[in-house]
Amino acid sequence: MDIIHTGAELAARLGNAGRVAFVPTMGNLHAGHYALCRIARQHGGTVVTSIFVNRLQFGPNEDFDRYPRTLAVDRAGLEREGVDVLFAPHEQEMYPTPQVYRVQPPPLADELDGAFRPGFFGGVCTVVLKLFNFVRPDAAVFGKKDRQQLKIVRGMVQQFNLPIEIVPAETVRADDGLALSSRNSYLTPVERAEAPNLYRVLRGIADAIAGGRRDYANLEAAGRAELAARGWQVDYVAVRHGLALRIPHPEGFDHPNLLIVLAAARLGTTRLIDNVDVIPQYGRD
Ligand code: PAF
Repeated sequence: MDIIHTGAELAARLGNAGRVAFVPTMGNLHAGHYALCRIARQHGGTVVTSIFVNRLQFGPNEDFDRYPRTLAVDRAGLEREGVDVLFAPHEQEMYPTPQVYRVQPPPLADELDGAFRPGFFGGVCTVVLKLFNFVRPDAAVFGKKDRQQLKIVRGMVQQFNLPIEIVPAETVRADDGLALSSRNSYLTPVERAEAPNLYRVLRGIADAIAGGRRDYANLEAAGRAELAARGWQVDYVAVRHGLALRIPHPEGFDHPNLLIVLAAARLGTTRLIDNVDVIPQYGRD
């Protein structure tokens, strides 16, 4: 595996690389990231993974400084996965001058996670666009755990006519259901034991919808109350349309083919997000 820190070296390495598949990450890699790399392998002869902790997507009171930087371990893991190129730019390479030009994401970026992390999706889109310009991939793989990110990045690619196929990847879960996330490493043993309940609550709502419930607001409120009673500080529990993440009709009269139940909540100082798909019982539109 080639480890590359500058855009110039990367351009030289990828000059004749053929079809390139890209997995952008912020490092502290886990089995979920390695699954993205394996999916990337199906979409390109050359697999590039980036590791860059992007300060633009962290709010002033968020965990930019304590975000785990584990390059040596990550590098060994990527070698094992057979990744061809690790692009690990330094801050100076990505932001040689203050990044005053930013991608303006759509109104969806102010909802759900964006309502609790102002500026987050603008920061994500800006760094992803810059990474795409460095790597020039044919395909890029994004995990469905970050569902809103996947939707917003896909919209950016469409609206800016970027010739990149965005490939969604299923969420990888621990045996107890907890979605794998770099931030799981912040959890204390007690919090780790509690954490799978986020998924359990989402599954419960999804199963209720699959069983015919249409009173989404009641289901959301019950999910929030259950998590709060267990000691979580809940940002949101929300039922949304599968495609555009729009709010469905409150009584289910618009019959979407796919709904997504999403949540973000904190255990102690650790904020976790998760989501599950549900095909409502009435089936197709
Ligand atoms: O999902 C992530 O890890 C980050 O948001 C990304 C896409 C690498 C941009 O910094």
